[in-house]
Amino acid sequence: MRHPRSTRTIAGTAVLLTAALVAAACGGARSGGGGGDGSHTIKFSHVVTKETPKGQAAEKFKELVENQCGDQITVEVYPNSELYGDEDEMQAVQSGAAQMLAPASAKFTTIAPQLQVLDLPFLFDSVEDIPKIASPDTEVGKAIFENQALADRGIKVLGLWDNGLKQLSSNKQLAKPSDLRGQRFRIQPSDVLRSQFGKWRGETTPMAFSEVYSALQQGVIDGQENPYSNIESQNMHTVQKHITESNHGYIGYAHVINNEFFESLSPELQDCVTSAADEAADFNHEIATRVNEESKKTIEKEGSTEITELTEEQREAFKDAVVPSVWKQYSDVLGEELIADLLAAQE
Ligand code: LMR
Repeated sequence: MRHPRSTRTIAGTAVLLTAALVAAACGGARSGGGGGDGSHTIKFSHVVTKETPKGQAAEKFKELVENQCGDQITVEVYPNSELYGDEDEMQAVQSGAAQMLAPASAKFTTIAPQLQVLDLPFLFDSVEDIPKIASPDTEVGKAIFENQALADRGIKVLGLWDNGLKQLSSNKQLAKPSDLRGQRFRIQPSDVLRSQFGKWRGETTPMAFSEVYSALQQGVIDGQENPYSNIESQNMHTVQKHITESNHGYIGYAHVINNEFFESLSPELQDCVTSAADEAADFNHEIATRVNEESKKTIEKEGSTEITELTEEQREAFKDAVVPSVWKQYSDVLGEELIADLLAAQE
């Protein structure tokens, strides 16, 4: 089984060259948009495959904008870290080299640390809880949509997408927190996630998503955490003997746009982009659970990875080690009141 990334090097280079040529042909317009003829281009870069809940929603956004915004906006979607990866996408959207991204909350840690609220372990007991806690009109949603640090960086939030709940993978069966002792896990660059694994006595290495498969294959790391769709679409399961269905954390995405580019659009086009973003978010929420279930089935069918479903008691043991300790540890970063409210809602 081959990692999607390994087929990407040549294709990715071709994409970069094409993108550079297109940019040159457009006079290198800084916000990607203004070709001078009233047309605009949105380069939408992301790090997962087209088949995942984020990948499909990005394609849906493209379809909606191109069908509904009167031929005035073209959306170029670059999946699977082909154009920008975790290491450079935040810079790209701030500089206007890319107009649009949908990174997981953890990826915003250095520029808008409050988004780590979505990384809190056991924030959700099941996928049914996600809309109750992480929708635009909840306190958590407002902390993201109205985030001042993002606004200061010229980043506008258009929507919240999700990819459901994370599972643990490793070559060792992980049925209780002490099983993680001495194992090294790849994490997204989030302090909250480092603390979560620390409480379970696991070691951590922050790493770009596109590097995880090779790092697992080469034994640089022992395990990682992700929803089934990311594990399966990156073929991580082919280099991991065990998956623990812990549902311990969440992958939520902020669908964002470079604000200068957005403001350069006419009010009609702004409305059109906003409503396409709303529809794409609805679509993402509709498909996320199903896509993850399908990925789980594919992994089961391939038969090389044992899936351990935790009993309620076993899951509680993982939870007790991190809640409320990790939540409280970050209440100054995430907001004292927000954490107090979230903890109260747990009772
Ligand atoms: C990860 O880095 O594990 C995820 O954030 C990737 C993604 O975008 O779902």
